[in-house]
Amino acid sequence: MSREEALKFPDKFLWGTATSPTQVEGHIDNEWTNFTAQDGGTCRVACDNYHRYPEDIEWMARLGTNAHRFGIEWSRLQARAFAPLNPTELARYIDMLDRLKAAGITPMVVLHHFSNPPWINASGGWTNPSTVPAYVDFVRQLVAALKERVHLWNTFNEPDTYACVSYLLGGFPPQRKWKLGQFRKVIGHMARAHAQASRIIRRDGNAGRKPEVGIAKNWTFFHAYQGYSLWDRATAFGCHYTFNKFVLDAFLGGWRRRASTFIGLNYYGRVRFHHFNAMIPASGAPGTRLKDFGFICDDMVERYPEGMEKILKYLRRKFRLPVYITEHGAASSDESFRERDLHENLAALHRSIEAGVDVRGFFYWSLLDNFEWQFGYTKKFGLIAVDFADEKLPRRPKPLAGVYERICRENALRPPA
Ligand code: FCB
Repeated sequence: MSREEALKFPDKFLWGTATSPTQVEGHIDNEWTNFTAQDGGTCRVACDNYHRYPEDIEWMARLGTNAHRFGIEWSRLQARAFAPLNPTELARYIDMLDRLKAAGITPMVVLHHFSNPPWINASGGWTNPSTVPAYVDFVRQLVAALKERVHLWNTFNEPDTYACVSYLLGGFPPQRKWKLGQFRKVIGHMARAHAQASRIIRRDGNAGRKPEVGIAKNWTFFHAYQGYSLWDRATAFGCHYTFNKFVLDAFLGGWRRRASTFIGLNYYGRVRFHHFNAMIPASGAPGTRLKDFGFICDDMVERYPEGMEKILKYLRRKFRLPVYITEHGAASSDESFRERDLHENLAALHRSIEAGVDVRGFFYWSLLDNFEWQFGYTKKFGLIAVDFADEKLPRRPKPLAGVYERICRENALRPPA
């Protein structure tokens, strides 16, 4: 097919990469510091992005990106509730923002990504209502410090995943299981904190560029593998209701919709149930079995690119807010698989834009191979590989980096070769 048939994206579309502090920075003191992942790995050094952020920004520039979504780690900045922000740590983040700007890269700052300061965890984390004012104070101080440099703010990354894996599935610290009441409390407190933080961001963050604020919602489709299986349908409905509907209502339902100027969407794919089992590699379903069932999965979940269009159209109908795809990516050592996955998802995204959905950017998860929470270093999402066996942690671009670079530079998706 010819160049003319490339799918053009809107002017000023943001093409970025995404990371989170615990997964890349290293040298962090939060609930993950002493957590040992399934592969025996810890986040103590991770990619050492704490020291190597100048080099990592150079990689972003080489990729031709014009945006980057990353977290500011609360535990680095406050030693106790309502304490002033640590000036050394703040200066480091400011230097990072200045280097991003010099490279022509717009930052989107995430204020909570699956981690809390130790003193918050010691008092019950997000199950405790007093975490709300403590977080809001952190946000207030940070916005005052960064408002000239940041206008895109993500208050919470995937509150649904955080509350579910920490309090229902036991995968994240504090590793509680089936505490539905705590799950609901966490969501309720985070939704309240989002509304309050958003008010502050919009009121105090106006320094030139109008501030934009939203959460990043992980959207997973939950389906039954066989439509006639009532039990699997009930399981899928229960998951959809708890993780999608209940969470969206808590953050965006009714008057709360006004607390967001955009919706961040983290979209990876779907989970299908068969005899109560979640048929995905992340839940331990063997790859060969999934193949026999005809499922196409990366190392985590089933791929479902048409879902990208479905969820974008649904969000538009329901909320009429602009959307950023705050995460999409695939973990696999098969680069042609990842290329196909990226292509199919971006094509679906493009169809949604053509159909009128206001999508303003796309952030690839992830810039680097990194510490993938309870799975450790075995799930490789990076555009850039990191050699964790070498203590110098050398970076090396993977083939997908070249593919993504072309998309970013041309602001277009060419047909597959
Ligand atoms: C998302 C998380 C991110 C990473 C990717 C693979 O759910 O936000 O930190 O784990 O999945």
